[in-house]
Amino acid sequence: MTPADAPSAAAAARPGTAGSAALFERAVAVTPGGVNSPVRAFNAVGGTPRFIRSARGAWLTDVDGNEYVDLICSWGPMLLGHAHPEVQAAVADAVARGTSYGTPTPPEVELAEEIVARAPVERVRFVSSGTEATMSAIRLARGFTGRDVVVKFAGCYHGHVDSLLAAAGSGLATFAVPGTPGVPESSTALTLVLPYNDRAAVEQAFAEHGDRIACLITEAAPGNMGVVPPEPGFNAFLAQTCARHGALFISDEVMTGFRASRLGQWGLDGALEGWRPDLVTFGKVMGGGFPAAAFGGRADVMHHLAPEGPVYQAGTLSGNPVATTAGLATLRLATDEVYATVGAAATTIRTAASAALAEAGVPHLVQSTGTMFSVFLTDPADGPVRDFADASRTDTIAYAAFFHAMLDRGVYLPPSAYEAWFLSSAHDDRAVETVLDALPAAALAAARARDEAGSGAGSDPRGDA
Ligand SMILES: Cc1ncc(COP(=O)(O)O)c(C=O)c1O
Repeated sequence: MTPADAPSAAAAARPGTAGSAALFERAVAVTPGGVNSPVRAFNAVGGTPRFIRSARGAWLTDVDGNEYVDLICSWGPMLLGHAHPEVQAAVADAVARGTSYGTPTPPEVELAEEIVARAPVERVRFVSSGTEATMSAIRLARGFTGRDVVVKFAGCYHGHVDSLLAAAGSGLATFAVPGTPGVPESSTALTLVLPYNDRAAVEQAFAEHGDRIACLITEAAPGNMGVVPPEPGFNAFLAQTCARHGALFISDEVMTGFRASRLGQWGLDGALEGWRPDLVTFGKVMGGGFPAAAFGGRADVMHHLAPEGPVYQAGTLSGNPVATTAGLATLRLATDEVYATVGAAATTIRTAASAALAEAGVPHLVQSTGTMFSVFLTDPADGPVRDFADASRTDTIAYAAFFHAMLDRGVYLPPSAYEAWFLSSAHDDRAVETVLDALPAAALAAARARDEAGSGAGSDPRGDA
């Protein structure tokens, strides 16, 4: 055992995980896989998920009393860290006034104004999940254009919308097939799935089907196959191609919105290059840790939604006053200083992760967009990860060893090799130091796993929260 390999005193003194194991056993008896969203299970890394009892700032505490630096942040929403006192106070105040009325309320107007002021949208409609946002945006695009075909990219996840749980057909620009049992072929028969960052494929699809394409939907910067930034000008190219063919460009900022930067991914490209998407979907950060999401865009397009227009869309809890209060408090606190703090912590951690992996001889690539990044255990000699096929090369066996070594040392990474690592403005020096201390041993564990297994390769880089 090398010194870096030895468990720290803190790790040795950890209370064990019997409580989580017992809860997991009860959970699997009543819930499929013991979890309410697949990636929370440890299927991709092995072992038993930790059941978290509470969270504060950058830290999670499980039911056994173990503390972890949280690098999941609820899969993106917790930009300010957990239990932020001002968000909590606003929520407590809202709860004291009742939790749902089924009528319009003041905070939903204020949150809509905040989003319209920050993002490239003129009107916004609230829903309860990112899935609902993308599903509704696609329905609106079809209703507005009177066309039926939807274009998406392999490896981009937009929630569990039937028509988007699709895998590429047998050739470029052929229609898709269902990506999961339960989705009928008729649901994906109007979906085209293309390789990400591939302009020629986009041009071919529009050349062959342009007059039928209602919309192209893309993650503004994919984070669900690991972080795969759009190549310079790619989003602008998509916006222009859609405009040329009379299709709508839907930028899915559910993950990147108010997270990659103050203005989301659009703040890193569109705002600088001078283009705007036709529709944008939001979720995660804008809900402040509550089930709130939204879609918005051009006024003339949004005007087609009921009750102004004919395209139906609705929701009992849409714009819920507690959720919109949490989102409003979060966005108002999400200042330039917050993004600078998150960005600095992200830079420190991704630099240290890369150094530790290099020192242990583990081939890897770190890719980022704004404050978001991920670590691919893949050979940099093969070039950057540009699309889903590249992402699939990541060594999932080495990642599983890396993940568990970090977990044993008090760092909760995403339990999947194909996810972004999320930080918050509450990731202070103590939290960052804990991560840095854990990295060398985790990198050695990854190196050992590679040696034992040969360089393993990908399973399914499909993201879901
Ligand atoms: C880019 C993107 N779009 C849509 C969704 C779906 O959001 P939800 O899980 O709230 O339904 C996600 C979830 O991770 C996402 O990352």
